Order: sequence, then structure tokens, then C-alpha cells
Amino acid sequence: MDKIIHPVSKLSGQLRAPSDRSITVRATLLGGIADGVSVVRMPLRCDDTDACLDCMRRLGVEIENLELKMENGELSDTNSKFIIHGRGLHGLQTPSQSLFCGSSGATMRLLSGLMSGQAFNSVLDGTAQLRKRPMRRITEPLRLMGAEIDDVAGCAPLEIGGQPTPLTGITYPTPVASAQVKSAILLAGLYAEGETVVGETAKTRDHTERMLAAMGVPMEEWQSDGRYWAKMRFTPTLKPFELTVPADFSSAAFFMVAAAIVPNTTLTLLDVGMNPTRTGLLDALRLMGAQIAIRNERMEGAEPVTNLDICAPHGLKAIEVQGELTARSIDELPIFAVAATQAHGTTLVRNAEELRVKESNRLEGFVAELHKLGANIQPTADGFVVHGPTPLHGATVDGLGDHRVAMSLAVAALVATSPTTILGADCVSKTYPGFYDDLAGLCP
Ligand code: S3P
Repeated sequence: MDKIIHPVSKLSGQLRAPSDRSITVRATLLGGIADGVSVVRMPLRCDDTDACLDCMRRLGVEIENLELKMENGELSDTNSKFIIHGRGLHGLQTPSQSLFCGSSGATMRLLSGLMSGQAFNSVLDGTAQLRKRPMRRITEPLRLMGAEIDDVAGCAPLEIGGQPTPLTGITYPTPVASAQVKSAILLAGLYAEGETVVGETAKTRDHTERMLAAMGVPMEEWQSDGRYWAKMRFTPTLKPFELTVPADFSSAAFFMVAAAIVPNTTLTLLDVGMNPTRTGLLDALRLMGAQIAIRNERMEGAEPVTNLDICAPHGLKAIEVQGELTARSIDELPIFAVAATQAHGTTLVRNAEELRVKESNRLEGFVAELHKLGANIQPTADGFVVHGPTPLHGATVDGLGDHRVAMSLAVAALVATSPTTILGADCVSKTYPGFYDDLAGLCP
């Protein structure tokens, strides 16, 4: 599907962005091995989470998906929930086919950790896009724990051999700061003797640690030797849980930037997940001069949540993003680049080489697409540099099969001088199937 985006003179309204993908994936996996029934209210439904759901069903987990309800004569999904009948740590069944993870890197990497400790064999596979993404970063530590995994030149499909005896806990300083690597090791740690300890150079999203702690796993975290460490100890059973999934900060991010660059705009974003490991973009936008008010801060289970009011500032200024701030905004760097095109001065993003191995190579591909709209942006060895402000113009651009590229280009197109056509625009269904409708709903 191609999509034409027209320039707008203002945006207004309020929106609850779709629920958090990272939390939905973790809740689906962990609910499946809990000792009893877990309830996940407002789970995200999209290609990635559907793939995860399907994998757990293939492992014998019953998941009721109460999705659509009649409310005031209308079909509504506001009451949607997963009811997950957990089979316990050792109750998963041998899958009759391979576990197809779609294009979901989180599903494949986290599930590899889980499968490494099972008594049965499994094969994890995915789309051509997922088969290109690096898996050695998880197979290496999992092998150190005793897992038997065959990969294909460091990529999927992954064949995981059944374990007759428990794995062994390890202390592992990760070479890349990655929540998926950390989580794969911690999930394997549920099946390991002794302690499992992971240390990373920048603190990545800690949804797994928060959820494991809520399920009764003794967790510890500390900082030493320039690393953030997470440690877990053995527990024989996992308590089931009930949680409401907040709106995904990474999906709300597109509207934060839209509000910061489209003149005369005021937007309210509801129930936004504010886990501090994820909110780097908010800090970056504030440093650039955007006006963002935080209202009704609260906790949803183990996760902080808030409402945000954002209005267009009188001009943005360029900033530098590196280190911890890069890690805390890793998924938001494409949409941050769009904000940078409208900022006065030179924006520099460093320490972001991971962008080369996301759903697309976001350093080369995305930068080239944004360039087509008139942005003055160049990739560097570990990030990109943007000179602004630049007036953007309409063009035909490609979503590159990458949800965040397509959505970022759509937001950039709002401030172009003529319409933009996005080729392959439907790739947004990976995390945000209703994106274009939600965007249209904010246009007057
Ligand atoms: C995710 C972790 C990050 C992020 C991805 C989701 C997760 O990936 O980019 O979109 O749910 O754990 P890495 O662990 O590869 O950095």
C-alpha cells in the first residue's frame, strides 16, 4: 500500500497511542510459564505481538483473547485483554512445527532464552527481514550457559536442542547494550542453576526485570565498573500477574515530534509509558525547547505512566545526543532526526551504530529517504548529523519495510510544502496498524 500525506497548518486533539509492544511481548511469554492464570489488559495487537501469541499457543499455552465488545451499540476494543493460562516453568509442550516469530526480533531473542532451558527441541524462524538480523549476540551467551543452539551464519533459523539437565548461571558483560540480549539471558536464567548476572554499558529497557520481580523472582540491580548489572536468583515457580499495558512511548513519540514541529499545535497524549529507560526523546525535545507538560503521573503495575500535553514551541534549537541519552532513545532516533531538520543549528547523534541492525539500516536507508524530502542530513560512522532548519518539500519516499521509517517520514511530510507519497506504507502494522487513521484524526 502507498500512502499520500498532505501538509497541515496545525494539529489538535488527544490520543492514546497503542499499547506497549515490549511489555505485551514480555507479558505473553512470561504469562505462559507462570503458575496460574495471568490477565493482560489492553495488550497491543499488531504483527509482532500476534507472532508472539502464536508461538506461545504452539507451545501449548491457552490464551483467551477477549478483543471486541459491544459498547453503546458500537464495537469497541477498549476492554480487550489476554487471559493467559500459564503452564508453569516446566509445562510447555513440544511444538509440532517451528516457532514462527514473524519480523519480531524481541519475540525471537527472548523466546530463544526461554527455549534454551526446555527439555524438548525447538526451531525458531522468521521472515526474510528477521533472518537478516544478528542472533550471535544471544546464541553466544546462551551457549555459555550450556544451551545447544545452531544458527545459520549467526542468523535465524535457530535450532535449539532439548536440555536433559539445568543450564548454568553466568556473569555476562554484554558487548552491545541491548534489552533483548539481557532479557534472553535472564529468561534462560529461570532454567539455570546458580545466579545469572548481566552487565551492560548503558541501562537498556528493564521491563523484563520489573515483570520478573513482580512474579516473585529475587532480582537485584547495581552499578559498578562502568556497567549496570542485573542479577536474578533461582525460583521454583513464577506467580501469575494482572497488568494494564500503558501506551507505547515509542508510538506516542511520533506525535510528540509532530506537536513540536507543526505550528499552532497542541496535543494531549494519554497513558504514556514513562519507564525512564525509554524516555530519552522527551528529554531531548525539552532540551531543544519543546513545551511538554506532564500530568497525572501514576504507576500501572510496575511501570510509570502519565499524560502529556505538548505544544509547538517558537523554534527548536539543535542539540547533541550521545551515551546514555542515545540508549534511552534508540527506537526514537529516526523521528528525532525529523525534529532536528526543523531545529536551528547542527544536531549530532553519536553512539548509535545499533541503528544499522534494526528492521532496516536506519543510518543509511532512513537518512537517504529523509534526504529526498530536502533534509540536510548525513550518516556518520556511529550516528548522523543534521543541519537545520531546512524547509522540506514533498517527494516519493520508501518505507523500507520498516515501521519506524514509514511513520517518521509521514510526520516529516506534515511540514513539507507539497504532498508526499510513502511507498510500502503498510509496514506500520508491525507495531501500529492504525497509525494513519490516528494521524488523520488529529488533522483539522
Ligand atoms: C526491544 C529492545 C530494543 C529495541 C526494540 C525492542 C525490546 O532492541 O530497539 O525495538 O523489546 O527489548 P535491542 O535489544 O536490539 O537494542
